[in-house]
Amino acid sequence: MILAPLRGVTTRCFRETFAEVIRGVGFTEAVTPFVSALPGRDPLRERELSGGPLPFRVTPQFIGKDPAALRGCLEKVKEAGFDTADLNCGCPFPMVRSKGRGSGLLRTPRVLRIMLETGCGVMGAGRFSVKTRLGVDRADELLDLMPVLNDFPLRFLAVHPRTARQMYGGECDIAMFERVAAAAKMPVVRNGDVPFEPGGGSCGNVMVGRSFIRYLGSRADIGALLERYISASLAEFGGERPVLGRLKELISYWRDSPGWRRRWDAVKICRSVVELRSVI
Ligand SMILES: Cc1cc2nc3c(=O)[nH]c(=O)nc-3n(C[C@H](O)[C@H](O)[C@H](O)COP(=O)(O)O)c2cc1C
Repeated sequence: MILAPLRGVTTRCFRETFAEVIRGVGFTEAVTPFVSALPGRDPLRERELSGGPLPFRVTPQFIGKDPAALRGCLEKVKEAGFDTADLNCGCPFPMVRSKGRGSGLLRTPRVLRIMLETGCGVMGAGRFSVKTRLGVDRADELLDLMPVLNDFPLRFLAVHPRTARQMYGGECDIAMFERVAAAAKMPVVRNGDVPFEPGGGSCGNVMVGRSFIRYLGSRADIGALLERYISASLAEFGGERPVLGRLKELISYWRDSPGWRRRWDAVKICRSVVELRSVI
């Protein structure tokens, strides 16, 4: 069971603070929220990919369309000790995909091919993975691309079986996911609305995001975990505003649960960490 990348949620600070929980419930790997595959220095990327070892594999995820820049980034992460990496081919946001990044790569098979060649070339066979959607507008676009993906020794192909156009609405298209899985030469990981079950349940390779985050709110030790998360976030940011934003985003996942519904109303209007601490 792989922890899905959730930008702004499953950050390095989150992975460190919740490490024992993440490992304890059965995750063996976390894919990081995407970082840019751009040349030069990027403080956000450096922050996301720093830190000591954790009790599960951490796979950096890159977003971009420039093979030379991807190569440079992968060489750096390899040097830093990461031995796996992932390419974001699924980000659905129009600003990203219209520039040919994220799910936009599904529309430029030639660029996609060079990115995969670069990724597998630098990381090595079985060490570079792809996370994607079924398509941009149509659910059969990924299926049409399988001959390209099958040309590479990918570690896995994680599929969120919605189109980019769907964003997070509508149903997952499981029938199309099965067709992709049948066409794939590499291991396929099922993502998207997979219910969280400690231990990963029995449905094979899964990548779980939001349902795990929702589960966290129901844990008996969530108060202590949040306290640690606030302290670690304060140390990371050095100011209260981003800490409040981060904590509100996390707690918003629990707003429909009986224990949090009323507290969420108070959390969302908190204007200081002291207030937040008193509410949670
Ligand atoms: C807030 C948020 C941030 C996300 N950030 C990323 C990201 O950085 N990289 C990525 O590949 N997918 C990202 N996703 C998509 C998730 O990894 C996942 O594919 C999607 O939420 C479906 O899985 P789930 O139903 O288990 O959450 C994000 C989703 C959400 C809701």
